[in-house]
Amino acid sequence: MSEPDFLTATRTAYDTVAVDYESLLRDELGGNALDRALLGAFAEDVLADGAGPVADLGCGPGRVTTHLASIGLDVFGLDLSPAMVAVARERLPELRFVVGSLLDLEAAGIEPGSLAGAVAWYSIIHTPPAHLPKVFAEFRRALRPGGRLLLAFQAGDHRAKHLERGYGHEIDLDAYRLDPDTIADLLGEAGFVAGTATIRQARGLEPTPQAYLQVTTPDD
Ligand SMILES: C[S@@+](CC[C@H](N)C(=O)[O-])C[C@H]1O[C@@H](n2cnc3c(N)ncnc32)[C@H](O)[C@@H]1O
Repeated sequence: MSEPDFLTATRTAYDTVAVDYESLLRDELGGNALDRALLGAFAEDVLADGAGPVADLGCGPGRVTTHLASIGLDVFGLDLSPAMVAVARERLPELRFVVGSLLDLEAAGIEPGSLAGAVAWYSIIHTPPAHLPKVFAEFRRALRPGGRLLLAFQAGDHRAKHLERGYGHEIDLDAYRLDPDTIADLLGEAGFVAGTATIRQARGLEPTPQAYLQVTTPDD
């Protein structure tokens, strides 16, 4: 069965930019106190719950994966782009990275109920909003009872923005800025329990505010 066009476009674009994306964003978290604080709070919560495997879903070159490992999580990365996974494996040989899609986590070897936590850091932004219920159902199925999910994305009104250049390359890719309240509702419909919602106003050259949602699966 052929895959949806948006997955092919996303893979092609990130395969094209992988090496330059990694070098441009390698140190970004170091200058981003709020992102580190939110990832840190997520990690503390997962560890307080008894730890367990954590997936960085749409990990790119693994910059968040390695940060989560450095603060004590047993974390691996998954990404649609084989070139991103190759860059991650080369730079971070001590961590595990797999090629796979947010739309079918089991096909990538993530068993239902196996994860203590999952992070999707700016990785749902290329999925057309109509497909997000399927992605959130996958996240829900992969997490164990009481498991935690942390999402980051650009806030907006769900309209597609077409990207023709990125990280120094010509690309052909849509990105969606998402409404935090609508995403929170979709997560609720997928069976998640609301946790924290953080909105940071745009800074520097950013065109939009940034949204961060942490939710949990119900305890059994
Ligand atoms: C903006 S980058 C973010 C990468 C990383 N999370 C970070 O913060 O540096 C988006 C990443 O999500 C991945 N991605 C997008 N849609 C995906 C999907 N359906 N399944 C798996 N990965 C996906 C892309 O290949 C890309 O590496």
